[in-house]
Amino acid sequence: MYDFHLLHTEGLSRYYPGVRALDAVDFDLAAGEVHVLFGENGAGKSTLISLLAGANNPSAGSIYVRGIAKHFANVHEARTAGISAVFQEFSLIPTLTVAQNLCLGEEPLHNGMLDKQGLLKRAQNSLDELGFEVNASALVATLSRAQQQMVEIAKGLRGQVSVLILDEPTASLTELETTHLFALIGRLKEQGVGIVYISHRMQEIFQIADRVTVLRDGRKVCTVKAAETTHDQLITLMSGRSIEKIYPHIESRPGEVVLEIQNLSTRSGVRNASITARRGEVVGLAGLVGCGKSELLRAAYGLDKVTHGKVSLKGRDHTNASTAQSLKLGYFYLPPDRKHEGLVLGFRSTSNITLHALEGSLKGWGGWLRKKDLKDMAIRAGDQVELTSRNLGKAVGLLSGGNQQKALFAKGLTSNMALYVFDEPTVGVDVGTRSALYEVIKQLCEGGAAVVLISSDLPEVLHLAHRAYVMCSGEVMGELQGNEITESGLLSLFFGTKEGKS
Ligand SMILES: Nc1ncnc2c1ncn2[C@@H]1O[C@H](COP(=O)(O)OP(=O)(O)OP(=O)(O)O)[C@@H](O)[C@H]1O
Ligand SMILES: [Mg+2]
Repeated sequence: MYDFHLLHTEGLSRYYPGVRALDAVDFDLAAGEVHVLFGENGAGKSTLISLLAGANNPSAGSIYVRGIAKHFANVHEARTAGISAVFQEFSLIPTLTVAQNLCLGEEPLHNGMLDKQGLLKRAQNSLDELGFEVNASALVATLSRAQQQMVEIAKGLRGQVSVLILDEPTASLTELETTHLFALIGRLKEQGVGIVYISHRMQEIFQIADRVTVLRDGRKVCTVKAAETTHDQLITLMSGRSIEKIYPHIESRPGEVVLEIQNLSTRSGVRNASITARRGEVVGLAGLVGCGKSELLRAAYGLDKVTHGKVSLKGRDHTNASTAQSLKLGYFYLPPDRKHEGLVLGFRSTSNITLHALEGSLKGWGGWLRKKDLKDMAIRAGDQVELTSRNLGKAVGLLSGGNQQKALFAKGLTSNMALYVFDEPTVGVDVGTRSALYEVIKQLCEGGAAVVLISSDLPEVLHLAHRAYVMCSGEVMGELQGNEITESGLLSLFFGTKEGKS
């Protein structure tokens, strides 16, 4: 039997001007259970956990820990009560090492002096125990997003934890790291830790959830036992509609080569990599985190230095071109890290979406774009990615995680590009929107653009790519076409046995 008193809330609410982000929610968590929060982008999941973890104050309602009402003034107070959260937005200090971040505020001393070796050892041990491959002496700024996620989890587990909250922890992890995380969650459950887990990935919900609470527009729709519900039922509860097919069929009509990368090496670790992308096809790029799939296209776009090899765009030399030149020639790149690269958080969504178009018009013809035209342009692009008008008017920084991702995606839809490179485009996006984004990819491809889909989400590559490359340790391990693109076909190349090589 569950002990329903580890944590519960009554009428918990958080209001913002014009938004009921969380509206009178009763929620409870038992010891040793994984309780998943499920809902569309903007449904209130992150808001709920920010209240549970003391990062935000309720407008109404109460939180009880083991039956006793609590008011957390800050995250520290929640932690003292045993509640620890790993948020969607990271909290690490990039200029410090992993070890320093992990021991912040609890640095070990030796004879009154900071014990640097002890610090490093302790941090490395805690990472190793979790099965995370991260070097404790590395600067956080040099880590990939996945590695930063692992450090965040390790940090969340410091000290006595009876409630662990994870907000989309696997959004930037690959299969292997996810397996480690799930094993860890299994161990924590055995120790009686209650886990609140947010995810948009149906498959993993059924893998680890004991119960699922569905939120919609800030309200609780219901709480169900995972064993007693289905995939389709959850989606209907979440969105109030059923979604027949997530992945559309995309017609393949390969035309001229838009992007050709030959024997490329980069400062960021890519080695001798060659790929091509043609008009009218979706090219998948798969591989483990850190395999170089992202770095390859970033260097081709102009975000990193090419040290060897050649990039051609539409038949012309494009090696070490600037990002401005790339955009001008019709090369759109959607970065995976929306917060630091893609979006101006203080600007409205509309202004963010039309940013590229605006640059083009000012630099291109020196002409004027009417404010209304820009607004219409943003609304059209917003529509395609299912961003509501209410969200379009908000500063992007105030949008929920998934809605920020939609705004970023919409940026590429304001003008016709020859090449779209989407780097982890559906991270944090709900299932309904995911199918809308895939529909956009279909239209772009069938409209004659080349699409490169860089993704850690295998099903995405399996279902959408006409051709796929797999990378490992900076090298392209192989290329698969059509029916060859299967899970085992892709995975067999993930760990680096190159075809025709020993
Ligand atoms: N500081 C704020 N000011 C105004 N509105 C806010 C603020 N913080 C959150 N919201 C709004 O509250 C609603 C709920 O957001 P929340 O981040 O909880 O959604 P979510 O369920 O976590 O979504 P996602 O799956 O996209 O992460 C959204 O409409 C969001 O725009
Ligand atoms: Mg969220």
